[in-house]
Amino acid sequence: MTAPLIDPFARAITYLRVSVTDRCDFRCVYCMSEDMKFLPKKDLLTLEELDRMCTTFVKMGVEKLRITGGEPLVRRNIMSFFNAMTRHLDSGALKELTLTTNGSQLHRFADDLYAAGVRRVNVSLDTLDDEKFSQITRWGRLKQVLNGIDTAQKAGLRVKINAVALKGFNEAELPTITQWCAERDMDLTWIEVMPMGDIGNENRLDQYWSLKDVRKEYESHYTVSDLAERTGGPARYARLEETGQKIGFITPLSHNFCESCNRVRLTCTGELYMCLGQEDMADLRAPLRDHLDTEAPLEQAIRAAINLKPKGHDFDYSRQAVDGKMSRHMSHTGG
Ligand code: GTP
Ligand code: 5AD
Ligand code: SF4
Repeated sequence: MTAPLIDPFARAITYLRVSVTDRCDFRCVYCMSEDMKFLPKKDLLTLEELDRMCTTFVKMGVEKLRITGGEPLVRRNIMSFFNAMTRHLDSGALKELTLTTNGSQLHRFADDLYAAGVRRVNVSLDTLDDEKFSQITRWGRLKQVLNGIDTAQKAGLRVKINAVALKGFNEAELPTITQWCAERDMDLTWIEVMPMGDIGNENRLDQYWSLKDVRKEYESHYTVSDLAERTGGPARYARLEETGQKIGFITPLSHNFCESCNRVRLTCTGELYMCLGQEDMADLRAPLRDHLDTEAPLEQAIRAAINLKPKGHDFDYSRQAVDGKMSRHMSHTGG
């Protein structure tokens, strides 16, 4: 092990999110425009290069690796990458190997993911209504995702549902989604919608449902107790005493959590984004590709990048306008 990665604000960087593809088989309206342009395949890091990248980060103190996209499970041969990462779990260097997925391919990969050492998956699901699901994902089929979730649970994977809180869309479904998760022993995390990329005609302010209001909604039905427990991500958790279930709140807008940030993001072309809500990034592909026999230049580039990690995002809707907006879409950096 080399010296740990510490940023200028004394935050230890131990969590790497890796977007393995910018492509997705859905077109969620808050995430993508309908006519998204994707990167040419030749620009992608190969799976072997992704392995070298991640291995270097693990050597530098990363303990949690989350594979994202786009939809990570649509990348060709992605299981060989997961299987390669198993060695870092076996050595004890990596504490968690996991992914965030839309669930569409889980029915095909759940068993293999478990065998590779994945124990927990986060599945994005904003509604349990067939019609609304087609509307929000444009291309998705709810049945396929539900089937994927079932298969994942049968394979022994713990499933956490991520729902983006969307005004006038899933507000009325809060009790249904909550109860459905409780029945299946799944945790549920709500996320505030962030201004990432142009999404056509949709307006972020119209979509925004503050989690302060989501919390109030819970408090009107349940006894809500805050929990100290963390999963290494930005969610804060509370327990609903009546069901015993855990609800997570990811509140980039209503309550900034950047002071405890522990993560950076690698894109499928080898750019390292030091913050989801800032433009700063460093190219790691050149130091990786230009030196096949040593990782020293890559390590240097990683340290230099971490030294430039910004304090936090500037997302802000409080002036009835969208401030701090990013030009890139969520699928570029994987959330
Ligand atoms: P756990 O391991 O379960 O804690 O996962 P996680 O919350 O770290 O990951 P997940 O992929 O489930 O992220 C859920 C949402 O949180 C996504 O929409 C992300 O964009 C958002 N999110 C994750 N990290 C950050 C962050 O550093 N800043 C902001 N603003 N949002 C984040
Ligand atoms: N704001 C908040 N969450 C978003 N996601 C995608 N786009 C946005 C956005 N603009 C979520 C997805 C998934 C996670 C990776 O990011 O629903 O759960
Ligand atoms: Fe970290 Fe940036 Fe996310 Fe804040 S917005 S938690 S600093 S990545």
